[in-house]
Amino acid sequence: MYQLLKPLLFLFDPENVHHFVTRNLKRFNRVPGGALLSKKFWTRDDEQSVREVFGLKFKNPVGLAAGFDKNAELIAEMGNLGFGFVEIGTVTPLPQPGNPKPRMFRLPADAALINRMGFNNLGVDVAASRIAAYRKGLKVNEQALIIGGNIGKNKITPNADAVNDYIICFDRLFDVVDYFVVNVSSPNTPGLRELQEKEPLMQLLATLQQRNNKNGVSRPILLKIAPDLTTDQLNDIVDIVKQTGIAGIIATNTTINRDGLTSAHRNETGGLSGKPLTKRSTEVIAYLHKVSGGSFPIIGVGGIHSAEDAMEKIAAGASLVQLYTGFIYEGPGLIGRILNRIKGLKG
Ligand code: FNR
Repeated sequence: MYQLLKPLLFLFDPENVHHFVTRNLKRFNRVPGGALLSKKFWTRDDEQSVREVFGLKFKNPVGLAAGFDKNAELIAEMGNLGFGFVEIGTVTPLPQPGNPKPRMFRLPADAALINRMGFNNLGVDVAASRIAAYRKGLKVNEQALIIGGNIGKNKITPNADAVNDYIICFDRLFDVVDYFVVNVSSPNTPGLRELQEKEPLMQLLATLQQRNNKNGVSRPILLKIAPDLTTDQLNDIVDIVKQTGIAGIIATNTTINRDGLTSAHRNETGGLSGKPLTKRSTEVIAYLHKVSGGSFPIIGVGGIHSAEDAMEKIAAGASLVQLYTGFIYEGPGLIGRILNRIKGLKG
């Protein structure tokens, strides 16, 4: 069905299509019977797909990657399309408009996207109240999806004060999300990736870990890293996870590498996602898994466009996977194909 719709959607500006699809997904799920129909068609609840990772129970290991539902408006809808978890954000303390448009480009010949959105979002307060409303709206006995809160800093905040921005988002989301993701790997906020250096990163994560106890409750904190880190930097990351005791890593964000692209938009500034990222992000997962001896969980993301791609991430050491660009190119059917393959059925 999606493959019939896709050529039509791909005729229009990608960001406009995103808003069009978002609006209509919400509408459809509000029509009486709509949510139920979507659930019946797309979701499959079975014990075999359940995963327990960093102390949380995921109904299945395929999640929606950050950036798709920046403002936490599609949690139920994404669950009804079959995702086992949703990562909202990146959110920042204050709302911000992001970069001038156009800022998202399709590279169809490469099965890729380039984006330089720049953390456009309505601010952490809006996300927090929407997640709270989602939880409140659940029916008795209806299980909530696992929700990750991906947090960042405002563009106007200098790196020297970045920790404060992460603290604000952390505190504001603490009661409503299941896990946190510290995003220091987006290429679209000037200077952000400098926070991936060992010293500022240690300080940021240690500060969050110190606050990570409210009335005896703590939340898993994960770090999302860029695929462009060197081997030395990856070694540092393993050290940092051990020293700060954070729960795990999300590998990877988009890349600034442009090797081997053929599409017209290949020279746009921003982060590249999709097929050209598949191999590198799997390499990063495999490397971290090997060097750490599998001592922390990894969420694998980057260029998963088929069940096979997901299996390779899992074989490399990923406990869970996430989709963004593959979801745009392949549609929700990809989720079921991955789940089937994981269960040993034909994907
Ligand atoms: C992203 N991604 C992203 N990641 C993040 O941590 N915070 C964010 O706000 C965003 N925003 C965003 C916007 C757009 C348009 C894209 C395409 C991607 C990165 C995303 O979560 C993922 O890590 C990469 O895109 C790699 O996975 P895929 O897209 O190849 O499956």
